[in-house]
Amino acid sequence: MGDDLRRLVIDGGQSIVNFDNKAFKSIPQEGIDLAVKAMSEGVMYRYQPKSKELSITAKLEHNFSKYMGVKHTIGTNSCGSAMYIALNIVGVKPGDKILTNAFTFHAVPSVIQHARAIPVLVESNREWAMSAEDLDKKATETGAKVLLMSYMRGHVPDMDAVMEVVKKHDLIFIEDCAHAYETRWNGKFLGKFGQIGCFSTQSSKGMSAGEGGIFITDNDEYAAKAALYAGSYERLWTKHFDLDPEIMDRLQNQIPGYSMRMQEVTAAMLTPQIERLPKIKKIHVENWNLLHSLINDNDNIEIPMPLPQVDSFCDTMQFHLVGLSREKADQFIDLMKMEGVPMQIFGAKRNARDYRQWEYVEAHKEELGETIANIEFACDLSLQPHLNQENIKIIAQVITEVLAYINAQ
Ligand SMILES: Cc1ncc(COP(=O)(O)O)c(C=O)c1O
Repeated sequence: MGDDLRRLVIDGGQSIVNFDNKAFKSIPQEGIDLAVKAMSEGVMYRYQPKSKELSITAKLEHNFSKYMGVKHTIGTNSCGSAMYIALNIVGVKPGDKILTNAFTFHAVPSVIQHARAIPVLVESNREWAMSAEDLDKKATETGAKVLLMSYMRGHVPDMDAVMEVVKKHDLIFIEDCAHAYETRWNGKFLGKFGQIGCFSTQSSKGMSAGEGGIFITDNDEYAAKAALYAGSYERLWTKHFDLDPEIMDRLQNQIPGYSMRMQEVTAAMLTPQIERLPKIKKIHVENWNLLHSLINDNDNIEIPMPLPQVDSFCDTMQFHLVGLSREKADQFIDLMKMEGVPMQIFGAKRNARDYRQWEYVEAHKEELGETIANIEFACDLSLQPHLNQENIKIIAQVITEVLAYINAQ
């Protein structure tokens, strides 16, 4: 070995990584204080406070609406719940076909299955976003009328092309923005293109509270139904800021309540996180750009870039490994883990983001060639905002060294 080559952990060397790239964000002190206050006073249920002005959840909803520039936000206990409620609101019935991504997390086809509907899987492109061309094809072939689209890992398709397909087939469009906080297409927030947008506040997400979800819409009737499906009953809707009394009275006893409410402690943890979003995005973008500049020239790495209209959150990085066998690609992941930089390949080792693993979905048997090719060697690296530029340089060094080691064998 030359003087400048470090001995890797596999050969008895020491790891140079003294940070955890996957560690989740902590809760800002203001959120901790609010949560502790709610717990100390025994006020954890969102409808317990005497008025909407005293409800942490109602205020969070109101503030999220202002931040996104939408009429309504309803807090839920998960993004899966928000999406399930959305499917119910738009009238999905058992056996209906729902267009969705072949490449997304299995929570998404699971929600469709929860509604006893049938996922129609749409191909993903090289940059892991939905193919508008295949969407058009599948909409034509199946006659499906609902699109539940994920911006998986923040990757955004050509939204002009997608919206054309939506218009052409008159699709109801529900956006899964679990990975798309602070993400814009031509200056417009994702989550505002469809009739309904759904966000996750599970710990790995941009807003993070262990669990939780956010439902947004500009449609008064949908907002009313979302509050009721989530579990508002009697006249508890008066403890929301923006619901229409006439619609609430009319729908009051017609909608089942699925007990999918957000709770006060979750809302407390999230309260200071809306204004944190642009701040952590700045860190993400700087880190992403630095890592890109350090590894993009490597012959074994291909980093597809977002379309120029996209303004991304950049809290993770994906790249394709190229010129490596399956065995060597798997070895790369194993060695990276040993070095202290864990990552995964989407299309390997029974990954829950590989549609071929979704055995409860009939379409898992389909040969979706584009998606398979684009997940087969796709590495997924978490870049949480506690990482500094020195950490990023170390990640780049380790990636480069591990690839050199593999190639030398
Ligand atoms: C793309 C995507 N959509 C939806 C969800 C569901 O979010 P939740 O866990 O809040 O239900 C997840 C969860 O990780 C996800 O990755």
